[in-house]
Amino acid sequence: MIDQAEILAQTEVYVKEKLSGEGSGHDWWHIYRVRQNARSLCQQGDVDTFVVELAALLHDIGDHKFHNGDTSVGPRLARAWLMELGVDEAIIGHVTEIIADLSFKGSGVATPMRTREGMVVQDADRLDALGAIGIARTFAFGGHKGRPLYDPAIPPTEHHSFAAYQSSQAPTINHFYEKLLLLKERLNTPAARRMAEARHMFMEQFLAQFFAEWEGKA
Ligand code: ADP
Ligand code: NI
Repeated sequence: MIDQAEILAQTEVYVKEKLSGEGSGHDWWHIYRVRQNARSLCQQGDVDTFVVELAALLHDIGDHKFHNGDTSVGPRLARAWLMELGVDEAIIGHVTEIIADLSFKGSGVATPMRTREGMVVQDADRLDALGAIGIARTFAFGGHKGRPLYDPAIPPTEHHSFAAYQSSQAPTINHFYEKLLLLKERLNTPAARRMAEARHMFMEQFLAQFFAEWEGKA
């Protein structure tokens, strides 16, 4: 069997090719940043970094948002890929479980992770939804979906099911209240909570400035 470094290198090439040209904020560079975040978080504790890196690399192939809400595509593609490389079944099972469980599914829907590795990858993904990058990705996604920036007549809502969250057509600003500003309290690891603080404050400043400019007050 090829060694772990080679498996990661080949997986990187595979994911780059699959996500190239993606225009909604889920491109290769999202994967790169999630992996960097995960590496920072791994420094704190006792986790299997091979599982963390594989799950970070593979977490958005076959994303449900681009497969009509089908959450089984990503884990299935990841399994097929890792089997092709001859990776151990225990590792494949762990990585695909992480990919299946990780996604945000609405503010009223719990998304617990079973293992420390899963907690790290989920936190790493969520950190990339925050801060300056989070703002950029959110407006990229809204534009990709043809959503308005903001409509004062449409208030944010809490989503109690994944289906309701997925089918939302709300203006992009609402996403800050329906997800992004809630993430700080939902991170699994203390290290991620520390990293989230500055990113959270930056989004709050952005929103205050946005609403002031909206009314010609800044
Ligand atoms: P997760 O990474 O937990 O699976 P998603 O893939 O749903 O979460 O979202 C990733 C990013 O895509 C969000 O952080 C946000 O930037 C953008 N995004 C997702 N849904 C929306 C939306 N309804 N409006 C604006 N941006 C969105
Ligand atoms: Ni992601």
